[in-house]
Amino acid sequence: MCGIVGYIGPENATQILIDGLRKLEYRGYDSAGVAILTGSEIQVARREGKLDRLADALKAEPLYGKLGIGHTRWATHGAPSDINAHPHSDCSGHFAVVHNGIIENYLPLRERLQANGHTFVSETDTEVVAHLIEEHYHGDLYAAVRAALCEVVGSYAIVAVCSDNPDTMVAARQHSPLILGHGDGEHFVASDVPAVLAHTRRVTYLKNGEIAAITRAGARVFNIQDGAEVATEETIVAWDAAAAEKGGYKHFMLKEINEQPTALAETLRGRFSDDRAGVRLPGFKLDAEGITRLNKVLIIACGTAYHAGFVGKYAIEKLARIPVEIDVASELRYRDPLIDDRTLAVVISQSGETADTLAGLREAKERGAHVLAVTNVVGSSVDREADSVLYTYAGPEIAVASTKAYTTQQMVMFLLALYLGEMRGTLPATERARYIAALQRLPEQMKTVVDIGPRVREFSRRFHGVHSMLYLGRGSNFPTALEGALKLKEISYIHAEGYAAGEMKHGPIALITPDCPTVALALPGGVYEKMLSNIKEVKARWGHVIAVGAEDDDELRKYADDVIPVPRTEELFSPVLAVVPLQLLAYYCADYLGLDVDQPRNLAKSVTVE
Ligand code: F6R
Repeated sequence: MCGIVGYIGPENATQILIDGLRKLEYRGYDSAGVAILTGSEIQVARREGKLDRLADALKAEPLYGKLGIGHTRWATHGAPSDINAHPHSDCSGHFAVVHNGIIENYLPLRERLQANGHTFVSETDTEVVAHLIEEHYHGDLYAAVRAALCEVVGSYAIVAVCSDNPDTMVAARQHSPLILGHGDGEHFVASDVPAVLAHTRRVTYLKNGEIAAITRAGARVFNIQDGAEVATEETIVAWDAAAAEKGGYKHFMLKEINEQPTALAETLRGRFSDDRAGVRLPGFKLDAEGITRLNKVLIIACGTAYHAGFVGKYAIEKLARIPVEIDVASELRYRDPLIDDRTLAVVISQSGETADTLAGLREAKERGAHVLAVTNVVGSSVDREADSVLYTYAGPEIAVASTKAYTTQQMVMFLLALYLGEMRGTLPATERARYIAALQRLPEQMKTVVDIGPRVREFSRRFHGVHSMLYLGRGSNFPTALEGALKLKEISYIHAEGYAAGEMKHGPIALITPDCPTVALALPGGVYEKMLSNIKEVKARWGHVIAVGAEDDDELRKYADDVIPVPRTEELFSPVLAVVPLQLLAYYCADYLGLDVDQPRNLAKSVTVE
C-alpha cells in the first residue's frame, strides 16, 4: 500500500510530485506529503486526508525546488494524521524518507536509536529509517541508505533525499514495487507506471534487493546486501498517459466499466492459431508432457481476482477434466496445502503486488508446482517470480473497485481452460471450435451490455436507499453473485450477501423482506430452471427480484419484478457479461449516495501488506 514518487531534474518538483501522487492515490489516500529541497534545506509539507488538502496547502504556501519526494498513505503503523504522514525526517532535518511497506523490526531499532539519543515524533515504522540513515551518514547518501537498509527486516520501497546532496536521490526496494522513469536530464521514481507517464515511457523496474543512486545524469543500480553494481534493462511501456486519465467520465470506475469491450478484445488478441482452431499461449511454459502429468490445478488469489479464479474453476474442470482447487491466498499460506510437482498453481492478481497472493505463489513454487501468473501489470512481482505468465492486457485500472481487470482475468482463464483441454485431449475439435467462436464474440456482445448503463441507473435510483441486498447465482454464476455483492459493499457501503442460490433455504431466506431486494443471475444453461425456482421462492416471501437473464427470455419476465437483459453466450462464459449490470448497479448506487466511488473508505487498490 501507499504510493511514492521522486523527482530530480530541471523543473519545479512540487507540481510534478502532486501530479504523480494523483495517479497513485488508488494505493492509499488517508494522508499525503512532499519533501522538497529548497536551496540548502529540506522543507516538508504533510496533510491528513485526501491529496487535495495537501495540494491546497502548497498553493497557499508554495515550495520551490528541483529535487523532491512525495507520498500518499494507507496507514499501517499509526493512525492517519499530519504527524504520521510521510515524508519522515531524522533529528537534524537533513534527511527525508518516503516508504511503502512494513519495517518488521522497527521496534528494536527504534529502542536502540532512542537509547542513542534520537527523538521520534511519529508512531510510524518508517521514521526509524530516517534516523538510521542519519546514524550511518558520513557524506555519502547512497552509502548511508544502503547501510541503513542492511539493518532493516521487512518489505519496503523507499526513496531518500538529503539536504547536503542536491544532486542525488536514493531509491531501493524489497517486496514493494518501485520503478525508475527516465527523461531527458530528469529522472523519476514511482510505485507505479501511471505516475510518470505524463513525462516518460522509458522505465526500469527495480528488482527485490536493489538500490539505485539517481542523479540528473542517470541512475546506477546496486545490490543492497553486497553493494555490487547490477546491469539494468530499460523498458518502453505501451500504456500512454491518456489511458490513465478519466477521458470525460465522472469516475474512473465508470470509464473502466465502459472500456471492457476493448479490454476483452485486447486480451484475446494474438491468442488463437492462424486457422482460429486452437488457443496459443506462448507465455505458458509448461510443455505438453508437463500438462499431461498434471493431477491438479490450484488457483490462488484475493478478492475480485479470487472470484475470477472461481469462474475459471468451472471452465477448467469442464473443458480440461482436471480437478481444480481454489484458495483465498490469505488462507492457503497457513493451511499446509497439498502441492507437488504435478500441481499447476494459477496465481491471479491485477496489480501483481498483493502480499498474500505473492506469499501463496512462493509457497506453491517452493513445493514444486509450476506457477502460472495471470496479471495486468508487466514487471510486477508476480510477473517476475512466476514460472509462466499470461497478461490480461486490460490497461491501467485506477478505480479501487476492480471491473475490467475482473472480466479480462476471466477471459484469460477461459483461454487457459481451452488450451489445457486441447493439450490433454479432453475437448473434441468441434466443441473447441464452438467455444472459441463464442469467446471471440464476447467483446462485441460486451458493447451491448455496457450500453444498458442508463437502465441500470434507474434501478440504482430506486434501490440505493436499502440497507441490504441479496445476490443469488448457481454454477459458474455463483461467483458472479459473490462479485456483485462485493462490488456493492465496497463502494456503496450497502450490506450485501452473495450466495449459491441452492443454499438460500439453509439460512439467507430469513433475510428476505420487501426492503431487501434480491439480484438473481438466471442465465440460460443447466441450472436455469433451478434459478427460476429460487426466484419463485423469493417472490413467495414478498421479496423484490431483479434478474439478470437472456435478452430474449420471456419466461423469466413472468417471475422476476425486473429483468436486466444480456446477450446469450456459452453458459461457462456468461459470467463475463452477467457481472456488468452488477458493476453498474453498485456504481450508480454509490454515485446516488454521493460517495467517493473511485476511492472508497478504508480500502486501497494494491494490498501490499498481509
Ligand atoms: C475489489 C478489488 C479487490 C482486489 C484484491 C486483489 O474490487 O479490487 O478485491 O481484487 O485486492 O487485488 P489484485 O488483483 O491486485 O491482487
